Amino acid sequence: MSDLHADISEILISEQEIEDKISMLAKQITEDYRGKDLLLVGVLKGALVFMADLCRHVDLPLEFDFMAVSSYGASTKSSGVVRILKDLDYEISGRHVVLVEDIIDSGLTISYLLRYLETREPASLEICSLFWKKGEQAVPLEVKYPGFEIPPVFVVGYGLDYAERYRNLPYIGVLKPEAYASDADNYPAEGPQTSEEVT
Ligand code: IMP
Ligand code: MG
Repeated sequence: MSDLHADISEILISEQEIEDKISMLAKQITEDYRGKDLLLVGVLKGALVFMADLCRHVDLPLEFDFMAVSSYGASTKSSGVVRILKDLDYEISGRHVVLVEDIIDSGLTISYLLRYLETREPASLEICSLFWKKGEQAVPLEVKYPGFEIPPVFVVGYGLDYAERYRNLPYIGVLKPEAYASDADNYPAEGPQTSEEVT
């Protein structure tokens, strides 16, 4: 098993930058949802770390719930074919929902979830995503609470994984090519093998 940090070639966004951005996002959410019945819905597993930090900066009574989805795609690209592995525990009709995502790449996963949640008639539904990849969105998306725009490269850390690892890095970074070497079939740039992956 290799050293966790030794596999990273570049830190794209530091722990401090992430922390500052999260308190800013949480402040906006706090102002916007004062007096409202707020429900944060995190998308497992990637959004777990973000959700944990975000919710502790929102200075309001709130509840949270989680969904788990897997998406089918060629290597690291999702196709928009999403399977729900865990649905919400509670009804959301009439409630103010903020969908908390780790990263928006093509945007297909989040648009599927938006359409799905809309059918349950929440009072409002907005997106909070910590990262999104520049120029990669296949569908127009309105992200009310956006974090960082990043280049269209494969990143890990702060909840994001490569083959389920690196989620516990406190920053987001780019993996060294050697980190894929022992796992050549999974090299993210390689495609086009199709797989189903928990997001
Ligand atoms: P989308 O459907 O293309 O927007 O993909 C969204 C999902 O793919 C995210 O929720 C992540 O789980 C995963 N994902 C997208 N880009 C990356 C990345 O650079 N590193 C790790 N996971 C990623
Ligand atoms: Mg993943």
